[in-house]
Amino acid sequence: MTRHFLRDDDLTPDEQRAVLDLSDEMKADRFGHRSLAGPKGIAVIFEKNSTRTRVSFEVGIAELGGHPVVVDGRMMQLGREETIEDTSRVLSRYVHAVVWRTFAQQRMNAMASASSVPVVNALTDEFHPCQVLADLQTIRERLGRLAGVTLTYLGDGKNNMAHSLLLGGATAGMHVRVAAPDGFVPDQEILASAKQRASDTGGSVAILADPDAAVEGANVLVTDTWTSMGQENDGMDRVTPFRKLQINADLVSRAESDAIVLHCLPAHRGWEVTDDVLDGQASAVWDEAENRLHAQKALLTWLLEQERQ
Ligand code: CP
Ligand code: NVA
Repeated sequence: MTRHFLRDDDLTPDEQRAVLDLSDEMKADRFGHRSLAGPKGIAVIFEKNSTRTRVSFEVGIAELGGHPVVVDGRMMQLGREETIEDTSRVLSRYVHAVVWRTFAQQRMNAMASASSVPVVNALTDEFHPCQVLADLQTIRERLGRLAGVTLTYLGDGKNNMAHSLLLGGATAGMHVRVAAPDGFVPDQEILASAKQRASDTGGSVAILADPDAAVEGANVLVTDTWTSMGQENDGMDRVTPFRKLQINADLVSRAESDAIVLHCLPAHRGWEVTDDVLDGQASAVWDEAENRLHAQKALLTWLLEQERQ
């Protein structure tokens, strides 16, 4: 059966753990896993900008012995008049998986609906699940566990990172708190899914407005840009309501003494996070960026193994 990774809860808790374990193995022996040798072609398509995702997928697929076909989606017929479903049917005849960064999640779902090979979400407006696999790997490396860890995300609660941390964190049995201004709280359906998942894993999810209360007792602080790609001209004030949510030294001092700070990057230094925090002792952002490579290699390997079962 073809498995896709369109949102974080597409993996069960056991499956998520298996992917993270494989990611640790791949990190420990970076060139020792040739799971795509054949070689298998994998399409990696971008309709938005990218540094980490683009480079880590291309390098990772090559390290697995596969052949990455990296395409600017705006140069495809998809950008003209071909439907997503027709594109998907054609790609399925060439490649063993499709990795796609696009806008609405509905587009991702449409790609998966017509695909006979795994489709991987490399970021949509609603979710960024590959990033959260890397985040979970980083947290487990630093803190030694995921279940029971309290993670506080501060910023735009409606964006892809907030949603993916809710679903991915709940799947891992974490206590996920989102501190967001009025009007920027998470989508209700996604919140309900995260609550449901948390009830199965012993985790929890909570939405808070006060940053001090949100970080008290937290083991992990996470933030992201206040203006995601595609929101630049949406007419919202994306600064004033967010200022009190900035991760700075004072806020970090209110969390657990060994708390770590994550950011998917790119960071807007001096806005959602200060230089001293990003470059300081608590920051795990460079390991987090590196882990994109390992986590995605593990995910692709795992998805293609499911094809054979
Ligand atoms: N974090 C992340 O996805 O970075 P890029 O946009 O550079 O790929
Ligand atoms: N929320 C950000 C994440 C970038 C990796 C965006 O969508 O632009």
